[in-house]
Amino acid sequence: MTLGESVWYVGFHFAYGLVKYLPTLSGDVLRYAVLKPFLKGLRGWVSFRDNVTIWFPEGVSVDAGSMIGENCFLDGFGGLTIGRDVLIAHNASLISEDHGFASRRVPIRRQAKTTAPIVIEDDVWIGCGARILKGVTVGRGAIVGAGSVVTTDVAPYSIVGGVPARVIEMRPDDTTVETEPGHRGAAGSD
Ligand SMILES: CC(C)(COP(=O)(O)OP(=O)(O)OC[C@H]1O[C@@H](n2cnc3c(N)ncnc32)[C@H](O)[C@@H]1OP(=O)(O)O)[C@@H](O)C(=O)NCCC(=O)NCCS
Repeated sequence: MTLGESVWYVGFHFAYGLVKYLPTLSGDVLRYAVLKPFLKGLRGWVSFRDNVTIWFPEGVSVDAGSMIGENCFLDGFGGLTIGRDVLIAHNASLISEDHGFASRRVPIRRQAKTTAPIVIEDDVWIGCGARILKGVTVGRGAIVGAGSVVTTDVAPYSIVGGVPARVIEMRPDDTTVETEPGHRGAAGSD
């Protein structure tokens, strides 16, 4: 790590540390202001509740309308992309890295890390205490149950739960609204 990078990290942790524990609502506004220049991407309003820990903010992007709940842990080392209107409930962890453990002769903490990006697509709901591990994509509109450990990709609009997470069911599909031939639906665009 270069001297410039070290100063940047110290600056981030110092500035964010000043606002990290402030109470929700007024704290959310101040956290947003501090995080905006440090995160890889922050588009539109995103609510960061109190005591969200962020490692490697330069790898984290979050899109508009999302909410990161109390005590969550976001790790951008391997890349972390959170889409639009995503809800992440309290105490969830999204970890885009693992410690290397290929050798028994070198302490794990001294082995090279393995990384892979995490992608949370739009309109996902991650339940409290869930763990999303490196390399996982959670598809649009999916739900991750409370306390789940997600090790593989989650299909769009599925509901998963457990350790490791498995599909519980699919969300109902209400997108096809039947109309009589020639009838112009209320959602017509012209
Ligand atoms: C995933 C969830 C949305 C499913 O709700 P649901 O559709 O009402 O599901 P049900 O309670 O009918 O359970 C369906 C099955 O899934 C299982 N299940 C439900 N949630 C589970 C979870 N988190 N982990 C593992 N299995 C779970 C149930 O045991 C049940 O299994 P069975 O059919 O073998 O008995 C809900 O259980 C959950 O985890 N919600 C998150 C709550 C939360 O974190 N809120 C924070 C506020 S933002």
